[in-house]
Amino acid sequence: MHEVYVLNGPNLDRLGTREPEIYGSMTFAQLADLCMTTAGQLGFRAQVRQTNDEAELIGWLHEAADGKIPVILNPAAFTHYSYALRDACAMLTAPLIEVHLSNPLAREEFRHTSVVSGVATGTIAGFGATSYVLALEALARQT
Ligand code: DQA
Repeated sequence: MHEVYVLNGPNLDRLGTREPEIYGSMTFAQLADLCMTTAGQLGFRAQVRQTNDEAELIGWLHEAADGKIPVILNPAAFTHYSYALRDACAMLTAPLIEVHLSNPLAREEFRHTSVVSGVATGTIAGFGATSYVLALEALARQT
């Protein structure tokens, strides 16, 4: 079975209570379950991870690069300024799908820049937890 990493950056562990009017009421545990179930239905085995630590996230991307494993990535706030994360993403050879729960382009100006998009296969944003489902479906059509 194909493996896929679903990697999540800072503050996404707070889903459920974090600004629910923007990010919804689903907890991170529920989001992880949704991703694992959807991935299973599409013939993938998903490893869903979250960290508040940039170095840890970069380490996971190195793992994905070494294993040629496709990645669905919600870089959270790192999206907007982490060149180190972008450089790690640039090393991936399998598809990389950037996802966001909200639509950053419809929010504050500092969210309008993604340093990751330029090295991603594509970006899906604004559909809440469904952004992840759509990303898994896009991946299933690619591989
Ligand atoms: C986010 C959007 C980012 O701007 C924000 O910093 C996040 C979450 C999203 O999923 O909508 O933490 O990536």
